[in-house]
Amino acid sequence: SPSPLAKAVSLGFTSIPLSTDDTVIVPEGYIARPFYRWGDAVGLKGNLPEFKADGSNTTDEQAAQAGMHHDGMAWFSLPRGEDNPAHGLLALNHEYIDNGMLFKDGVANWNKDKALKGQNAMGVSVIEVKKSGNDWQVVRPSSYARRITVNTPMQLTGPARQQDLMKTAADPQGETVLGTMQNCANGLTPWGTYLTCEENWSDIFVKKAPRNALEKRYGISDTDASYRWSEVDDRFNVDKTPNEPNRFGWVVEIDPYDPASTPRKHTALGRFKHEGAAVTLAADNHVVVYMGDDQKFEYIYKFISDKKYDPAHREAGMHLLESGTLYVAKFNEDGSGDWLPLVFGENGLDQSNGFESQGDLLIKTRLAADTVGATKMDRPEWIAVDPHSAGSVYCTLTNNSDRGMEGKAPVDAANPRAANLFGHIMHWNEENGDPAATRFKWDILVLAGRTDNKDVKAKGNMQGAEFGSPDGLSFDHRGVLWIQTDVSSSTINQKDYAGMGNNQMVATIPGTNEYRRFLTGPRGCEITGIAFTPDNRTLFINIQHPGEGGDDVTDPANPRAVSNWPDADPQGRPRSSTVVITKADGGMIGL
Ligand code: FEO
Ligand code: CA
Ligand code: CA
Ligand code: CA
Repeated sequence: SPSPLAKAVSLGFTSIPLSTDDTVIVPEGYIARPFYRWGDAVGLKGNLPEFKADGSNTTDEQAAQAGMHHDGMAWFSLPRGEDNPAHGLLALNHEYIDNGMLFKDGVANWNKDKALKGQNAMGVSVIEVKKSGNDWQVVRPSSYARRITVNTPMQLTGPARQQDLMKTAADPQGETVLGTMQNCANGLTPWGTYLTCEENWSDIFVKKAPRNALEKRYGISDTDASYRWSEVDDRFNVDKTPNEPNRFGWVVEIDPYDPASTPRKHTALGRFKHEGAAVTLAADNHVVVYMGDDQKFEYIYKFISDKKYDPAHREAGMHLLESGTLYVAKFNEDGSGDWLPLVFGENGLDQSNGFESQGDLLIKTRLAADTVGATKMDRPEWIAVDPHSAGSVYCTLTNNSDRGMEGKAPVDAANPRAANLFGHIMHWNEENGDPAATRFKWDILVLAGRTDNKDVKAKGNMQGAEFGSPDGLSFDHRGVLWIQTDVSSSTINQKDYAGMGNNQMVATIPGTNEYRRFLTGPRGCEITGIAFTPDNRTLFINIQHPGEGGDDVTDPANPRAVSNWPDADPQGRPRSSTVVITKADGGMIGL
């Protein structure tokens, strides 16, 4: 990743109003263009299938096209090792699928081939992109172009590799997994690899027999009406393939510069519903990875590598995430915090509490974190490390309607609002500014919500642009913090969110408490994914699930969810898309 540019002292754009329009709006002087939509060819040589607006692309064609529901994303300059702002690769996630939109006839005649098309629409895209003038193109064909799907072979690394709980009939050694799925947010390593994070993987699996404590803790259920893979593919039927769920819930490392490379699932980073993986370096060059587990009352984690990063040895970097110590955060009531190690044999993490080894413990990471008494948070989503302030870290806590409710965890200092409908952004400073510290001091950057609301659960305390349900979070190279929202489509612009319009992206410089709205998205979408070129002059973001809430885009009974963005084709379907944003005068974004 490039070294930071000079720190920004002020924002240079005029905040835009809230919007309910079915389009992407950016401030005056900026240009935003849909750039890589679901169904666009990824750029494989001799295999450039065109998108068919009626959903009739074949299963094989989908494996050569952009998947659905774009999410986290990162920039990689070409050639590798240079901070080239005009030519590079984008790696991006396709988080989930919508069977209602993926096929010409929806879920009628459900079969294994339909499930496979869905598997081909999830995972990761690697695309080559190039600037010409002030605009950008996807390079097609490209020798870098790649789709990683739910069936791409991957190696397991770290302590859980070869554990009994990782073995299946198809992989009796517990070493090789097919694919990655529910790829939410992401990370970017200093040695130029992409981290993709497996979030809501438990939604895919079904078990009819009574579920054990591990399966219950991770939310495996006895039904699935959304994906329906388990009906036709025994891999996702836990009654038949009991250990397959244990092979998901990990962080996966991908080398985007080598399309023949085998992705690796790093079990040392723990197993949960991984949102993202924010990578930074400790004072002595140990690698530190911050990670959220996005579910109500789940935890914030960090990993510290055993070995140190050496910029001269990229290949050695590839092994840094294979061994290290995983910690979970405890936010004390007095504003201090502790990173509690999840190490077999320490703090009750032994056979007396159901842990057999470090590898076994990592498969059961949530249970280990319960055992040591970590702080239950309001849905930790993205984490961002300030490039201009060592050891200063931020995390979006998107919302938690159950906080303080009967039978649920009460409010605490770090999660201070009952029925937290709008979320907040947590901040902490690691002791001595060192990300490898085991103690920190925390505070709350902002409580999201409307500033004029008298109801404490909905009252925001920012100046300027109001927002709720913060999710995507990243610094640019100038130290501007960008926040993207994911208000659920069941509440967008209604109920407590009435009048707040479509999902949006705002910017702030921490310390100012001033927020400006930079972007509003089309109807029914969330905004996610943030990748800046090294010169800060191009920003790529993703629009996920435009039109969510109504698969029938022409349904007049559901005008809130109606979207036919970006194609504006009344016969077509809304399509998740990467959007490229530049300034008309070629200047830096946000300044
Ligand atoms: Fe996939 Fe927590 O967002
Ligand atoms: Ca998210
Ligand atoms: Ca979210
Ligand atoms: Ca999402």
